[in-house]
Formats: sequence, C-alpha cells, structure tokens
Amino acid sequence: MDFNLSEEQLMIQQAARDFAQTELLPEVIERDRDQKFPAEQVKKMGEMGLLGMMVDPKYGGAGMDSVSYVLAMEEIAKIDASAAVVMSVNNSLVCAGLEKFASEEQKVKYLTPLASGQVIGAFALSEPEAGSDATSQKTTAEDKGDYYLLNGIKNWITNGGTATYYIVIAQTDPEKKHKGINAFIVERGWEGFEIGTKEDKLGIRGSDTHSLIFNNVKVPKENRIGEDGFGFNFAMAVLNGGRIGIASQALGIASGAYELALKYAKTRKAFKTEIINHQAIAFKLADMATQITAARMLCFKAACEKDAGKDISESGAMAKLYASQVAMDTTIEAVQIHGGYGYVKEYHVERLMRDAKITQIYEGTSEIQKIVISRSISK
Ligand code: CAA
Ligand code: FAD
Repeated sequence: MDFNLSEEQLMIQQAARDFAQTELLPEVIERDRDQKFPAEQVKKMGEMGLLGMMVDPKYGGAGMDSVSYVLAMEEIAKIDASAAVVMSVNNSLVCAGLEKFASEEQKVKYLTPLASGQVIGAFALSEPEAGSDATSQKTTAEDKGDYYLLNGIKNWITNGGTATYYIVIAQTDPEKKHKGINAFIVERGWEGFEIGTKEDKLGIRGSDTHSLIFNNVKVPKENRIGEDGFGFNFAMAVLNGGRIGIASQALGIASGAYELALKYAKTRKAFKTEIINHQAIAFKLADMATQITAARMLCFKAACEKDAGKDISESGAMAKLYASQVAMDTTIEAVQIHGGYGYVKEYHVERLMRDAKITQIYEGTSEIQKIVISRSISK
C-alpha cells in the first residue's frame, strides 16, 4: 500500500473540495431544515463524473480508482452528508453492481445514463420486516414465462423519490430460501409501481428516503440481473463495496466536524486564552485527529483491496464499523468544543452530529458489521 497519493488522486480530492465549498456549502443549512433534495448540485456532480467514478468510460463513467472515490466522498460528506449518500448509492450500489453483474444490453441501456449522471438510481433491498435479516424477503417476483410479476413493499429507499431506475430484490422461489431470490432493474413510471411517502428524518435530511410499492408490476425477463436465484449473492457482493462508500461518508462527517472544532478552538477564548490551550480541549482534538486518520487508513485499505480484486467483505465491514463510530464520537465532541454555539444550526456541527448517526444503521448496522467480521475471522 502506497501512502502517497498520486497527482490524479490529489486533483480529484481538490476538485471535490472546491465543489463542496462553492456549490454545496451555500444553503446546506436551509436544505437540511426544509428536507430539500440537492437536485441542481447532484446534476453538477454528474457532470463532474462523481456519480459513476469507477465505471469504465465506455459506459459513461470516469474510470477512476476506489481510493479516488474515498477521497471525493470524504470531501463531499464534510460539507453535505446528504449529497454524499446520493453519490454513494449511485456509485457503489447501483453502478458498481450493474458494471460487474449486468448483461451488455443492460449496461448500454441502464448503466450508461446512470454512470454519466443523466439519471440517478436506487437500490431496494430493505422491507418493513426485512432489514438486517435481509434473506426474509416478502416482496415476490413470480415467474410468468417472459416476465416476472412483482408485488410487495420496500422501505427506506434512498433516492426513492428522485431515481429513474431501481434495483429491486425479490423472492421468486421461497422454497429455495436465499437461493430463490432475484434482483431486477425496474423503471420509474411502470404500471403498478408507486412511490410511497417521504420519511421525515433526524439527519441526512436533504436526501430523499421513500417506501416503494409494487402492485402487479410486470418486469421483463431481460431485466433480471444474472442467473435465476443470484439476487441475494448479488446484493451481498454489492453491499461489500457499498460499505466503503458509507465508511467514507462517515469519515467525511468526522473530518468536517474536526476541522470546524479545531478552527473554533484556536479562536474562541475562555479564561484569557484560546480554548485549545486548555488541555482538556487539546486532548479531545488529539483523539479526533488520531481516530480520523485510522478510519481513513481502513477506508484506503478496503479501497485498495477492492481494486486488487480481493474479497472485501471483511475490510469493507471493518472500515464502516470503525468510521461510523468515529463519526459519532467526533461530532459529539465537536459540539462540546463549540459550547452553546455548537447547539445552534449556524455552526454546522449539530447537523453533522445528526447526520453521523445514520452511518451506524444503513448498509448494515454496526451489529451486522460485527457479524460479517466475526464470521470472516473465524473461518
Ligand atoms: N459478502 C458476500 N456474500 C455474503 C456476505 C458478504 N458480506 N454475507 C453473506 N453472504 C452470502 C453467504 O455466503 C451466503 O451465500 P451462499 O449460500 O451462496 O454461500 C448467503 O449470502 C447467505 O448468507 P448467510 O447464511 O450468512 O445469511 P444470514 O441470513 O445469516 O445473514 C447477513 C447474512 C450478513 C446478516 C446479511 O443478511 C446482511 O448483510 N444483512 C444486512 C443487510 C444490509 O446491509 N442492508 C443494507 C440495505 S442497502 C442500504 O442500506 C443503502 C443505504 O442505506 C444508503
Ligand atoms: P432491524 O434489522 O430490525 O434491527 C433493529 C436492531 O436490532 C438493530 O440495532 C440491529 O443491529 C439489531 N439486530 C438485528 N439483528 C441482529 C442480530 N442478528 N444480532 C445482533 N443485533 C441484531 N435500505 C435499502 O435497501 N436501500 C436504501 O437505499 C436504504 N436507505 C436507507 C436510508 C435511511 C435513512 C435509513 C434509515 C435506512 C435505509 N435503508 C435502506 C435500510 C437500512 O439498511 C436498514 O434500516 C438497516 O439495514 C437495519 O434494518 P432495520 O431498520 O429493519 O433494523
């Protein structure tokens, strides 16, 4: 593992940093307050190549490596964690899954507009009664010959109200349990496909979380991804990569809060000196800097292993487990360092604290990451 970033990686990091400052920072507080999806900003992110970062340029992607993705995700999440989750889902759950497992026809038709950011995608695995226990799918996809009949409800779907294409996981043959699950590409607007109500959330309020309702939706057979019964393994493989995206989002939330806290501690005075001169405050910042660096290294490790074609179930889970804890701890301490000012919206850290919590829940809770890691280390 090379600890020096290449010129290209540094350029991407800088471009994402500049974009976040100029395009995402203005009105981030208002978008959080009003639960407003950053539509214009997401469009620009697509134009910059941030929505299909690792996809081959022949399918509309930017053809970058996964370390570049971690770097860009961190910069975007520092300023706007809602925009970062849109980016993570489109890159890691939608585009990466299609590039690796979809047919050539599916790639041309669906991956190309998704990777180039003309449209965005969503990934629908979770259901009202199947979250962590993801094999307990109640959504059914009945095989009707040349099409599948899709029925059921998906819950908590990021980009649910704004996506054009949805990857939907459903049970075709319950007797085969997870081997009877399939994954499908479903288009917005198909008859019987309804977008449910938008969730009113604690954090990442600019992101768009909806339930999806499928009522006798006809899905052409050519829209199934991979062989019959491949859907659950597809979802697990995709989530391994997705966890690098969410780990990087958590890293960005943590480093955003740390940078604000450091700056504040250098200027805010109490007892005739800047508060950073009180060791209790300086030690908090020292802990934050150390933990953030460790989280970044875990993200880089998982990203390098992904690019080397290794099994990243363990390293992706470790990165997410650790970075999400660091995001939570760092943002709580950043609010503390800001004192009363940390408790109001203007100073950003209270939003980052609310945003941090979700990184311990979605794409597998911290408890689920520990299941994945413990199974891997006990093999
Ligand atoms: N990588 C690859 N394959 C995996 C895997 C992994 N990390 N974990 C399990 N599998 C495979 C197993 O090998 C097995 O396949 P085979 O039978 O072919 O060998 C199959 O999946 C079933 O595995 P288990 O018997 O271990 O299944 P389980 O019921 O005990 O549960 C689990 C496994 C790890 C808990 C899994 O259900 C899980 O990951 N749950 C969390 C779901 C999740 O992360 N949801 C996120 C939704 S998307 C999202 O949240 C997006 C967003 O917020 C932005
Ligand atoms: P449950 O599975 O009911 O878990 C409840 C608690 O029990 C948790 O603490 C959990 O860790 C614990 N628990 C469960 N099983 C075990 C066990 N075996 N051992 C120890 N502890 C256990 N899903 C999608 O498919 N696509 C999306 O785009 C998406 N976006 C989301 C966006 C948001 C804002 C939110 C809130 C969720 C999103 N999700 C999405 C769903 C998310 O992945 C699930 O919420 C998550 O996997 C947990 O499932 P659950 O909510 O059903 O909790």
